[in-house]
Amino acid sequence: MCGIIGGVSPSDITSTLIDGLHRLEYRGYDSAGIAVVDLHGRLARRRAVGKVAALAGMLSDDPLHGRVGIAHTRWATHGRPHTDNAHPHMSRDSVAVVHNGIVENYAALRDELTAEGYCFISETDTEVIAHLVERQLRRANNLREAVGAAVQRLEGAFTFAAVAVSEPDRLVAARQGSPLVVGIGDAGCFVASDTYALLPVARRFIYLEEGDVVELTGNSFRIHDAGGRLVERAASEVQSSLSVSDKEGFRHYMLKEIHEQPDVVARTLDTWLEGGHLNPDRLAPHARALFAQVRGAHIIACGTSYHAGLVARYWLESLGIPCHVEVASEYRYRKQVIMPGTLLVTISQSGETADTLAPLREAAGKGYLASVTVCNVPNSSLVRESDIAMLTRAGPEIGVASTKAFTAQLVALAILALALARRDGDIHPAESAWLHALRDLPESLRTLLRSDLGLDALSSTLSRGNHALFLGRGIQYPVAMEGALKLKEISYIHAEAYPAGELKHGPLALVDDAMPVIFTLPQDHLLAKTCSNLKEVQARGGRTMVFADDRAAASLQGNGDVVRLGVVPEPVAPIVFTLPLQLLAYHTAVVKGADVDQPRNLAKSVTVE
Ligand code: F6R
Repeated sequence: MCGIIGGVSPSDITSTLIDGLHRLEYRGYDSAGIAVVDLHGRLARRRAVGKVAALAGMLSDDPLHGRVGIAHTRWATHGRPHTDNAHPHMSRDSVAVVHNGIVENYAALRDELTAEGYCFISETDTEVIAHLVERQLRRANNLREAVGAAVQRLEGAFTFAAVAVSEPDRLVAARQGSPLVVGIGDAGCFVASDTYALLPVARRFIYLEEGDVVELTGNSFRIHDAGGRLVERAASEVQSSLSVSDKEGFRHYMLKEIHEQPDVVARTLDTWLEGGHLNPDRLAPHARALFAQVRGAHIIACGTSYHAGLVARYWLESLGIPCHVEVASEYRYRKQVIMPGTLLVTISQSGETADTLAPLREAAGKGYLASVTVCNVPNSSLVRESDIAMLTRAGPEIGVASTKAFTAQLVALAILALALARRDGDIHPAESAWLHALRDLPESLRTLLRSDLGLDALSSTLSRGNHALFLGRGIQYPVAMEGALKLKEISYIHAEAYPAGELKHGPLALVDDAMPVIFTLPQDHLLAKTCSNLKEVQARGGRTMVFADDRAAASLQGNGDVVRLGVVPEPVAPIVFTLPLQLLAYHTAVVKGADVDQPRNLAKSVTVE
């Protein structure tokens, strides 16, 4: 999703901004641009459709120099990817802005500004911000007041940064709806959509609150809150572990991140285990007392994180805890019935997903007992605004398609389920077997990743078709959903997941020898049922690919490809079965020559509704 970087520096800022844009690339985008107040005090701008490399190439042919500037990666919302729609947007050559979000009242503002003689060049909602700031600048004392006044007229999500020729030594930015971090370093003061963009130039970071307006000069910054009061916000030093490492010899970030999963699982698990045993105090000092009052959970999330929530529902219910799981964008607009003792659980890799953040913000006063977030980004909005944050320790995930963050979420949710299942301090009878399986999990995943699963042949079959069905029963149904999502995201093959038992109620009509049907087959109480569904597909000439526990594979006869995953303990089966499906999607995308790490149209951090 759109990425913002900007700053004020005692030296030329252009290369810092371009480097920052490269660091924002993982968020997903379709065009990029930069504007600086140049050494003659004029606004100079370059924009390009496509990769940041195209913009960088443009700058090497036609350089820009300045000490104050803003830059942007755009993920189209209003208006197609086109140079005219790329940010920064300018007003009368005197103000430039970059924006992340959606200005919901842009049409009315556009009419108003057009009537006053402002000329619109783009199809974007952002251009109204540039003109509003320019208009306010004529009436206000300075850029900060002009930005503050513009903010008052805007509705929706509108985190933006602005520079003006009338104040060539400063940058003003406002946070509303999507995150903005201030970074302080030896080379100046900066703002960006995320910390990673600023790691080379800043060591101290200040995470702005909703409604904050920050004013940067080369060596200082001031923050005003939504009420216009000058405020201090806590600064944090960056942790060296936050640095975005390279691909470490892997062809893509996604492959590297798939292979990191054994370590990620071990690290994440360690957060809440002590001597191999669960210590609920490690979730939060008051977790034991709070969890004793929990009577059920509502889990809210999107995409892959939603699939993690669906897996968690099976776990929680198996431990006797009622659970409802819903896609955040639907949940928000429904009338919810919240029973006493309900815990709100949000799950998010980024911690900034607008759809997930909104229900948390609206939860206050609705009767939830408390909120817990399972999240991979410390200091993210979800972490800061939840009562308890369970931080997954996957490290930065650069591939847009989530892999290691998902497995880390599952580990955290298994721990949460066990902690909630303790009643009056009594450990649930299943806890010991679960913890045993979880402790062994990193080594099982390592073994799996080292073995030759024979996925090349399956991937090349999938890559020749346009469709695939993923089937699983019980807790494997969300695993199948995640497998289908991975395949469609990165290989652009239409993939659908169904509960295997649902097949005969409709989707079986799709099955012929051109329809690959992927089954997951653990050794569990549904084995015989899933095998029957497999037979139904094979009887109709469907091409089956079965990912099976060794014991379950023994009961398979007949045709079809079978990938054996070893003996998989039931509590961790959703995690183990996920890995080969990630690899299947990855190899299929590679065969198809797709952009694995930055699939078309997708964004890593989805900060608009
Ligand atoms: C898929 C994927 C997305 C995200 C979804 C929610 O690979 O990454 O489906 O899971 O956009 O994002 P987070 O987890 O950041 O809230």
